[in-house]
Amino acid sequence: VRLAYADPPYPGCAHLYRDHPDYAGEVDHVELVERLATYDGWVLHTSSPALAAVLSILTGAGLDGWRVFAWVKPFAAFKRNVPVAHAWEPVIVRPVRTPTVAAAHEVSRDWLSEPITLRRGLTGAKPDRVVWWLLDCAGMTAGDELADLYPGTGAVTRAWERWRSTPTLWAAT
Ligand SMILES: C[S@@+](CC[C@H](N)C(=O)[O-])C[C@H]1O[C@@H](n2cnc3c(N)ncnc32)[C@H](O)[C@@H]1O
Repeated sequence: VRLAYADPPYPGCAHLYRDHPDYAGEVDHVELVERLATYDGWVLHTSSPALAAVLSILTGAGLDGWRVFAWVKPFAAFKRNVPVAHAWEPVIVRPVRTPTVAAAHEVSRDWLSEPITLRRGLTGAKPDRVVWWLLDCAGMTAGDELADLYPGTGAVTRAWERWRSTPTLWAAT
């Protein structure tokens, strides 16, 4: 069972990664969605301004079985010129299987409140708890495979390795 974990630069924000070796301009989300469709399930991070466009690409490609989750950020990037801060982000999840309470480490919610990470040296590095929450929502189990499509700092793959080797981790934090 294979899950694609897609954490691309959000539409219109690719320039933030101009200096990165894997930078290749704006990510073509139509192509990305076609790629996601080849997996059993997937996780797709995006931004609230891009949500309508991304959902219409998913619908246009005929993908179903997905659900929109909310990562709420009590600490986010607050900017003087943005009077209403962008302090949550949508994550769209197509589970690899129906998550069960027995397989999950707790009854997951469709939202998580977790501050953004600092000090990881990359805009958008994902906190462990965000990844662990989404693995539960995606119905993942330790024997599955995860493809980290936009690795950045490698935080998603590291969180996945910790989660699959210590199944009680999420409940313990
Ligand atoms: C949001 S970050 C991923 C963060 C990662 N999940 C983490 O936790 O560290 C997006 C990554 O995609 C890379 N990237 C930028 N433009 C890209 C492109 N057109 N195609 C593929 N990757 C790209 C960026 O350099 C960055 O490493």
